[in-house]
This record gives sequence, structure tokens and C-alpha cells, in this order.
Amino acid sequence: MASHGYFSVLVHAFVFASLATSAFSQLSPNYYDYACPNALSTIKSVVEAAVQKEYRMGASLLRLHFHDCFVNGCDGSILLDPSPTIDSEKNAFANFQSVRGFEVVDDIKQAVDEACGTPVVSCADILAVAARDSVVALGGPTWEVQLGRRDSTTASKEAADANIPAPFFSLSQLITNFKNHGLDEKDLVVLSGGHTIGYARCVTFKDHIYNDSNIDPNFAQYLKYICPRNGGDLNLAPLDSTAANFDLNYYSNLVQKNGLLHSDQELFNGGSTDELVKQYSYDTEAFYVEFANSMVKMGNIQPLTGDQGEIRVSCRKVNNY
Ligand code: HEM
Repeated sequence: MASHGYFSVLVHAFVFASLATSAFSQLSPNYYDYACPNALSTIKSVVEAAVQKEYRMGASLLRLHFHDCFVNGCDGSILLDPSPTIDSEKNAFANFQSVRGFEVVDDIKQAVDEACGTPVVSCADILAVAARDSVVALGGPTWEVQLGRRDSTTASKEAADANIPAPFFSLSQLITNFKNHGLDEKDLVVLSGGHTIGYARCVTFKDHIYNDSNIDPNFAQYLKYICPRNGGDLNLAPLDSTAANFDLNYYSNLVQKNGLLHSDQELFNGGSTDELVKQYSYDTEAFYVEFANSMVKMGNIQPLTGDQGEIRVSCRKVNNY
């Protein structure tokens, strides 16, 4: 009986250990505790200073992590500059003249390497932590970031074009795109709440304000001043009515047909996601809890771990040995 009990404990321990490694993809919130105990506080102070200087930087850093994770997993590939061997994702349709924040990532990397003494923190992890710290700096929820991602030695513009969702997508295209990344309808609705902060260029919403009918006419009229039918493609409009605050207004705007992007308004357009949008339009607790959960889920997409990839010295280029 005693030996049977011991055996069963062993079996359970083994099953639990294998479940734990597969379910949490070998990432851990304590990953840098020994190698660099000041890593997280260092990242946080650089992010806070950057957001203080320009609040939009928080939005830009959050978006970088999303565009990193959706292209071959969260591996820092979005950060690699073009070179003879790198087909930079910065040149992909969704990123070109659009993603920003690379200088802040450089600053973080320099500060964190100095704090640690050696380059032990990956650029992919820097993006995951900077995304969380940005959300917090703009008044949103916090969560424990899983760590231990390593950096890619490759990038792919083609993969970026195939994987980053476009603002002209329909609800079913958005659902399929997220599903292809292991994310469900709820993740889609809650992560789109990232659009509670930041801005979009006229070229990304022109079609929506001139050609769609599921838009409040007064809202469309106001946007037409910012975004003329011809030209003005780089002019910016806020993604929700309070672009500097991580709040519920993205969802309450959608319920009033004040979504800026076609893809935003698709989430509240008589389809299967309407109810969730309605709930998040008044339930701060639900939005914050679910946003935190879905960010962890997104951050777990296909990381490089163990001896895969590398820890880059410069986030902009692969190491040369
Ligand atoms: C659901 C599909 C999504 C689509 C189609 C989409 C599309 C876009 C577009 C077109 C812009 C404006 C880009 C520009 O004008 O250059 C934008 C900005 C932004 N997106 Fe998304 N996005 C999606 C999901 C997400 C997710 C999941 C997040 C983060 C969790 C996110 C975070 C942001 C942020 C913060 C900005 C503002 C960036 C800034 O001000 O610099 N987006 N998105």
C-alpha cells in the first residue's frame, strides 16, 4: 500500500511536470530572477520615461509585441533591420511607415544590458514586458509576464504580410486569422481592446468613412475633415475617443457605431461578437481580467526556448560569431 502510494505520487508528479512544460511552453515569470534581478525594474523605468515624454509611445510598444507574436511566434523578429540576409518585417504592408518605437526598444536594451552586466535578456522578452508596462503606464491592468523567449536569427516580410490582420478584414476573416494563431473569438474581441490607445493613419480608415454604412454619420463627418477623399493619407486620428487612456471607450464607441477601422466596427455589427463588445463597454473588471489573460496567451505563441535562437546583442541585427 505504502509503495503503491509512493508510485502514484511519482506518476502524478511526472504527469504534472510534462503538462506544465507543454502547457506553459517553458516560459516562467521568474526566468531572470538569478541572472538579472533588476531586469524588470529597468525595463519599467525606461518605458515610464518614454510614455511620460510621449503617451503614444505606450500604444506603439503594445502594437510591436502584437506584430512580433503574430509572425512566427514572439521571437523579436519584428525588430530586425533590413540587411542582405534579413527580409525585414518592417517592410511588410502593415508595418511600413507604421510601426514605431524601435528607438525606445534600443534604449531599453542598452539599459537592461548595463543593469545585467551582460546581454542576458532577449529582445522578444523586452517587447513582452514593455507591452505590459505601457498598458499600466496608460492606466490599464497589470499581469505577470511569462519570460524566457529567445530571439530569432531570421525574419520574413512574406510571413508578416500573410499573418498580420488587415483593417479591411471581415469578422470571419478576423476570427480565422486569430484562430490560426491559437486564439479564439474572445481573445479577438478582448485583444482588439488594445485600440483603446493610440492612433491610425487616414489611409487605414478612409474606405470605412467614405464607403461603409455601419458608421455614425456625425462621426464620419468629423473624420472626413481629418481624412479627405483625396490625399492626407498620413493624417492621424485617435483609435478611440480617449487615445491616451486604457479604458472602456473603445467598446462604448463601437456600440455607438464610432469605430475608427472597418475591422473594429466588424466586432459590433450584428454578429457573434456583439454581446462581448456590449459587456466590455461597461464592465471594466471583465475587460481588464480578460485582457491580461489574453495578453499572456498571445505572449505564449510559439516562443523560441532552450538552445533555439539566440540572445541578441543589438535588437536590430542578428549576432555574428
Ligand atoms: C484584430 C485585428 C487588428 C487589426 C486589423 C489592427 C489594425 C491596426 C491598424 C490599421 C492600425 C493603425 C496603423 C497605422 O495607421 O499605421 C492599428 C494601430 C494599433 N493597433 Fe491594431 N489591429 C488589430 C489588433 C490589434 C491588437 C491585438 C493589438 C494589441 C493588443 C493592437 C494594438 C494597436 C495599437 C496600440 C495601435 C496604435 C499604435 C500607435 O499609435 O502607434 N491592434 N491597428
